Amino acid sequence: MTEQKATNVHWHEGEIQREHRHQLLGQQGATLWFTGLSGSGKSTVAVALEEELFKRGKLSYRLDGDNIRLGINKNLGFTAEDRTENIRRIGEVAKLFVDCGVIVLTSFISPYRADRDVVRALHAASGMPFIEVFVDCELAEAEKRDPKGLYKKARAGQIKNFTGIDDPYEAPEAPEIHLHTDRMTLAQEVDMLIHDLTRRGILSA
Ligand code: ADX
Repeated sequence: MTEQKATNVHWHEGEIQREHRHQLLGQQGATLWFTGLSGSGKSTVAVALEEELFKRGKLSYRLDGDNIRLGINKNLGFTAEDRTENIRRIGEVAKLFVDCGVIVLTSFISPYRADRDVVRALHAASGMPFIEVFVDCELAEAEKRDPKGLYKKARAGQIKNFTGIDDPYEAPEAPEIHLHTDRMTLAQEVDMLIHDLTRRGILSA
């Protein structure tokens, strides 16, 4: 757990609560946390889901590994500590979006179970839905896809600590949703996610 450094700071409550914002938007927020190997399809499925939600009049926003690492997290690399800090910050940012009423779609490898569980606990403590989506794909398939040519570089020793090659990926033990992108179509994956969001009452039937 990250320690609180600043002292004498207190949460300042406003007059407008989460419920009021949700009423205004006509939706409630939730975090869908996509986790999986590089090249497993996290961003692809998040993009497709975002489009489907938009068609249904629901506001969602994607927080994507590469995008976030070009901005707010540009000072972080890929050591275990930096990955943990990456996920911690995204967890906090996701929580702010959910508080606004937005459906957040995060796509980060987030390889460490403990880091994902911290974000889960953060949401639970504020009564916010947290849906862990395991974007499962055999390493061999992700490596075959190699959309950014990074596995090739990692195998050649040009990238160190690459997840799945010389850095671990700890698969979720009980994800809310388990996708198999090496044997499902994108449409099936989006259907499964929409079905789940409907079952949870985040989308109306
Ligand atoms: S995480 O482990 O901290 O969750 P994140 O999802 O933000 O990672 O970033 C992963 C992306 O960074 C990969 O899709 C890949 O494009 C790039 N990358 C660069 N170096 C590495 C590395 N050593 N391990 C994993 N991904 C890397």
